[in-house]
Amino acid sequence: MRILTGIQPSGTPHIGNYFGYFKQNIDLLGEEENLLMMVDLHALTTVQSPDDLRKYRQELSKDFLACGFDPSKGTLFFQSYVPEHTELMWILSCVTPMGLLERAVSYKDKVKRGLEANVGLFAYPVLQAADILLYGADTVPVGKDQIQHIEIARDIAQKFNNRYGDGLLTIPEARVVPEVAVIPGTDGQKMSKSYGNVIPMFAEESVIKKAIMGIVTDSKGVDEPKNPKTCIVYQLHALLLDDAGKKELAETYKAGGLGYGDAKKNFFEDCMDYFGSMRKKREALKDAEVIAVIEEGSAYAREIAHKTMERVRKAVGLR
Ligand code: ADP
Ligand code: TRP
Repeated sequence: MRILTGIQPSGTPHIGNYFGYFKQNIDLLGEEENLLMMVDLHALTTVQSPDDLRKYRQELSKDFLACGFDPSKGTLFFQSYVPEHTELMWILSCVTPMGLLERAVSYKDKVKRGLEANVGLFAYPVLQAADILLYGADTVPVGKDQIQHIEIARDIAQKFNNRYGDGLLTIPEARVVPEVAVIPGTDGQKMSKSYGNVIPMFAEESVIKKAIMGIVTDSKGVDEPKNPKTCIVYQLHALLLDDAGKKELAETYKAGGLGYGDAKKNFFEDCMDYFGSMRKKREALKDAEVIAVIEEGSAYAREIAHKTMERVRKAVGLR
């Protein structure tokens, strides 16, 4: 069994990314073969500054290592260090009907949000299909928003196999992780770097504190009972606690006597505690160590990609 996932290096990660992506993928390590790829080619659809792209990619690798990605249990690599991604993408483009991409909601969403409607953005799902099919991945763990992209990858693989030969490409399965609800940002919308409502776990302490103190609440006074179900401070704080801790915190909210200011301070302290060892580990990580991990991971990824491409080139008549 091979599990593969990808994340765009397109900004500074936040606790929504941590609980919705980092933690789950790190927890999966060791059970099956695991590949985690930083999709820098995909990030080119939105990141226009070369310095930013280099920085985000390097920083994101550091974040994964700091959060516990153990390179002896999984492969961490850069998509662009394996040139076969773009070659396979082209070949797959030639079996992909336009209609399949025209139905992709994420393209429409991005254009609606004001991104330039370029070919890269439109063809994004074909590159993603190449990412997955190149490694013969059986399982792709994803959030709900990515299910359609995995469906597209499956469709493309099927079309390719119909034309060139059964079993040439492995049909991947999406694994939707149900327990990961959408984590709210400081304003109650989905936490996202596009909405400026994030709590970035590796930022300066003062930045984290400011973000937490800025969480939107209702106007209930200190003594009034509060509803943990609707309180964003509670929902975010609960992410850090075990079941007993969650229950106790909920009781405190319901009892009244805890003002939002203090509730936020408590959350801030627990947050610094929770991420403390990861923050220390991250500070101690040297750039050279990170680069060595990526080089080694990318070399391994290239070996797999090379074998798939040999097969694919032969199948389509390029060899
Ligand atoms: P952003 O929305 O900040 O741009 P990305 O789209 O780069 O984040 O997301 C990277 C990964 O983190 C994805 O797998 C996504 O599902 C997950 N993720 C992002 N935001 C959240 C959130 N608020 N709650 C849960 N998971 C999230
Ligand atoms: N499109 C994915 C996202 O925005 C990132 C991605 C690119 C990906 N290639 C992938 C995810 C391959 C899983 C497998 O989150």
